[in-house]
Amino acid sequence: MKIFSKQKDTLDILAFPSEIVVEKGQYLVVSEGDKFMLAQVVDVSYADIPGILEDMLREVSLEIVNHENIFDPFDMGSLTVMIKEARIVRCKIRCIVEGDRIVHNSSWLPSRFRSNISAAGADLLRSVMKLAGKRKIHIGTVGGEDFWVDAESFDGRLTIITGKKETGKSHIMKLISTALVEYGALVIVFDINGEYVNLNRRVDGGQSSIALRHEVLEPGKNFKVRTEDVGLRTFMDILIHVYDTPSSSSREFFRIWNAVKRNRGKVTLKDLIEIIQKTQLHESVKEALMSRLMAIEATGIITDDECVTSFEDVVKCIGGKMLVINLRDLLPSTRRMVVEYLLSKLTELLQARRLPPIFLVAEEAHLYLRDTYWDDIVTRMRHLGLSPIFVTNQPDSIPETIYRQADNVILFNFTNEADLEAIAKTSRIDSESVKTIAASLPPRYCLLIGYLVKDIPVVVKVREIDVETMGKTRLFFELSDRQLHIPKVVREQVA
Ligand SMILES: Nc1ncnc2c1ncn2[C@@H]1O[C@H](COP(=O)(O)OP(=O)(O)O)[C@@H](O)[C@H]1O
Ligand SMILES: [Mg+2]
Repeated sequence: MKIFSKQKDTLDILAFPSEIVVEKGQYLVVSEGDKFMLAQVVDVSYADIPGILEDMLREVSLEIVNHENIFDPFDMGSLTVMIKEARIVRCKIRCIVEGDRIVHNSSWLPSRFRSNISAAGADLLRSVMKLAGKRKIHIGTVGGEDFWVDAESFDGRLTIITGKKETGKSHIMKLISTALVEYGALVIVFDINGEYVNLNRRVDGGQSSIALRHEVLEPGKNFKVRTEDVGLRTFMDILIHVYDTPSSSSREFFRIWNAVKRNRGKVTLKDLIEIIQKTQLHESVKEALMSRLMAIEATGIITDDECVTSFEDVVKCIGGKMLVINLRDLLPSTRRMVVEYLLSKLTELLQARRLPPIFLVAEEAHLYLRDTYWDDIVTRMRHLGLSPIFVTNQPDSIPETIYRQADNVILFNFTNEADLEAIAKTSRIDSESVKTIAASLPPRYCLLIGYLVKDIPVVVKVREIDVETMGKTRLFFELSDRQLHIPKVVREQVA
């Protein structure tokens, strides 16, 4: 291989097919003396050789006219064929390393003739990135060699995991969140598909490493909150943002809540409903409030039950915990209500420093996060100690401003142009790389971008994990197979 040309950060390398064992996303080291350059392969194409079209046409025509071999005593043919088969390996220069440090503004260029080009291994990449965190997360392999990132890279950072369906997003999220809990972190998961609920078990049925630090909250069942604990502000937010309560009615509600509080010392749903019924109110206001309070009561999540453990006690932990909020079988409005409550409660607890910093995993957040919360999460709440990790297969569901603030992006395959366009907007990598690499990633491979790889994007094959990652999707054929299967076993036992 030889360097052919360089334009800005694009390096074209000339190679013959026999030399090319490169995959898109892989790194090449171009070295000369004690300096080297890390260049990431983004595409492989044919070399543009002058006159190639005419030459090939002549060859094809000759083949058609004359089937006999052309007289070629010096075997020049094979040489020209070789030249015609030359490839251009297009790379993006990611960094220049002099001695053992990255030089950002270096104007150094390796020699076209004397430089040495070889594949870069995972160890070299890690040493250039200087990943020196104390807590390693084994993500998978790079070119067959193990690759780790630092757990610290997610701490206080905004991470986005995206890619099309079934490519392995939730899988890597389970891998990362399990590791974070093992390191003692508190991880809260908004589990839209009910697929984090079994992470306490291993595939073979035994207990997983986080079995004792894994708790599933089922809203309305083992997760309820007292009306008083919800508080007026959050209750108002729920009425306004989840149940679209008109402002005239919510103003009345504000007044009534305060009246109940004043007269009875504490607020319960029952009292609120009773007072609304008794008070002289405009019929439409009464109707608006009553229907909404009834709906809220029917969810079974906000309750007057005194014995309910407060969320603060549930979330408390020593030595790490994964708290899975199972949003799976909830109505969209109930989901949004639960999230509204949790986010406001978490903010309150973090603000009062009654909670250690937490990691918040939100899958398909656009389904339950109200618009104004996006910015709030990545600005105010992040400073209070909440590190968000958004997972989605619809990249355009995350506002563009959020992408721009993302520290880490874990990108799986996308083939759809519009999706690629949306994700290419992330400012931490050039859009050409995103488009060419992401489009060619096989399932279970991802491109790590941003802070967690110190801006040297790497393609990783994500490893397997030995926890039960299955959600509870009910499949028709599986069910009917099982139903067919059971009587057969029973029959055999009887026989
Ligand atoms: N690296 C991996 N090793 C083993 N199985 C994987 C890996 N990545 C994904 N899978 C499996 O592939 C399927 C789809 O992955 P999943 O993470 O649910 O996809 P997504 O969330 O992107 O839709 C799941 O059954 C998952 O267990
Ligand atoms: Mg998923």
